[in-house]
Amino acid sequence: MKLHMFLVPLALAAAVVAAPPKKEDDDPNAPVSYFKKVRPIFQAHCQGCHQPARAQGGYVMTDFAKLLAGGEECAQDGTRAVVPKDPAKSVLLDQITPVNGEAAMPKKKPPLAAQELALVRRWVAEGAADDTPANARTRFDAAHPPVYTRPPVITSLDFSPDGTLLAVAGFHEVLLWKADGSELLARLVGLSERIQTVRFSPDGKRLAACGGRPAQMGEVQIWDVEKRTLALSVPVGFDTVYGAAWSPDGRMVSFGCPDNALRAIDARTGAQVLQQTSHSDWVLDTAFNVHGDQLVSVGRDMSAKLTEVATQRFIDNLSSITPGALRGGLQSVARHPARDEFLVGGADGVPQAYRTVRKVQRKIGDNALCIRQWPAMDGRIYAVDFAPDGKSFAAVSSLDGRGAVSFYNYDFNTEMPADIVAIENKADGSRTPADRAKLVAHYVSDTKLLRTVPLDAGQFALRWRRDGSGVAAAGEDGKVRIISAADGKIVKEFVPVPLAPAPATADR
Ligand code: HEC
Repeated sequence: MKLHMFLVPLALAAAVVAAPPKKEDDDPNAPVSYFKKVRPIFQAHCQGCHQPARAQGGYVMTDFAKLLAGGEECAQDGTRAVVPKDPAKSVLLDQITPVNGEAAMPKKKPPLAAQELALVRRWVAEGAADDTPANARTRFDAAHPPVYTRPPVITSLDFSPDGTLLAVAGFHEVLLWKADGSELLARLVGLSERIQTVRFSPDGKRLAACGGRPAQMGEVQIWDVEKRTLALSVPVGFDTVYGAAWSPDGRMVSFGCPDNALRAIDARTGAQVLQQTSHSDWVLDTAFNVHGDQLVSVGRDMSAKLTEVATQRFIDNLSSITPGALRGGLQSVARHPARDEFLVGGADGVPQAYRTVRKVQRKIGDNALCIRQWPAMDGRIYAVDFAPDGKSFAAVSSLDGRGAVSFYNYDFNTEMPADIVAIENKADGSRTPADRAKLVAHYVSDTKLLRTVPLDAGQFALRWRRDGSGVAAAGEDGKVRIISAADGKIVKEFVPVPLAPAPATADR
């Protein structure tokens, strides 16, 4: 596989959700497949605590030899976690078999379902064979970081709140740089091969990274920034997850899923605290409101939706639900630094801002939560972000191998004038052509494209520098560019991964 092909958001293989099971899977007498049946169980219930970056009890279950060998206790006792064909001697089975309804593993969680337990037991009894295809083996950990022969596509980056660090999503890892791009400080290698979003916690002490392996696993990682250790690895379903965002109090991390759900977890325990399924397609990005009691989610179904955190209930569509109001899916959402106003951008290239509180009655066909629409970028918008002072914003786009960073104003009166409220309150059918023209004019009034910086590669990732002097952008060509907002000049350009000389044959 080629690195530059397979980290592009939206270009991800679409046929990734459960494929129809093959005949052999239905045969109850066929030997249990480790790769198809047992590994998914371990992935969902065990690997969060038993992987190279976080090996509780010294036990790593992502490497087959170590999975069989066991951890510290096994080493001490001279036992093995899995003894092929001998379930009775296999410590792992002992650990997961409930006694009086409770099992030692998964630790502090409900025991595996009887059916899952039976599968693992049968797999051991049948000889514990490893049928993992070569291309699905976990190859990387801190001691064996990914080797790049060319820069990877960059899907996300973020500055730490104090402005000293820049986190960049790589292949199988998050790269931690000095914010000015002068030094690579750490490589945080985890299980997910694709990292879709990296976000520092509001206090900067933790870093959330979400992603996964297409058609195999979704994952949210929480790293301890200072110690550079994996504090939490939370498995989420069987496909990549997107668009992580921290609640303002740092208690929760929200994210979007390809099963059309918006979810949030407790960032300390990993427990799911929110699930909302009103989207009709993949959810790609999320943002909390100022108080952290509401969430905005956007996705491929072309909608921006508002959810109440406490009740997990869908409240409102921010974007118009009128067909054609938004063309194509939405890719990115960002909240104003001080107010509950949300920027969205997506396939139609038009940055739009929405409020969350209605100033007019709800009407079929209205778009009255829209605050403004700015001049379109060429191509799709992949990321939007507000300047720290909230008076301007930036967006990045991609079209046919080229890209751009555009800077826009946000310094206008966001109040809705009385005549516009009056027109919005009319039923759609009773609006005159003059009314409609007035509405169109209002929603684009005072909007300015301040500057566009064209680039030779599609851009997918964007964050403002914390001092407001400009942005960091990255994308297809794997280069991070720090760009000045004042004059559009590229202040610094660097490849955030260590590059190895390309061997004649391999991709990496
Ligand atoms: C929430 C974290 C967590 C999860 C999830 C978890 N474990 Fe563990 N596991 C631990 C810790 C911690 C230990 C060290 C012993 C202890 O504290 O009980 C351990 C120890 C073990 C050991 C003993 C290894 C040795 O030789 O020392 C086995 C076997 C094991 N786990 C299997 C599993 C299996 C199988 C699952 C999934 C069904 C699982 N664990 C899920 C935290 C976890």
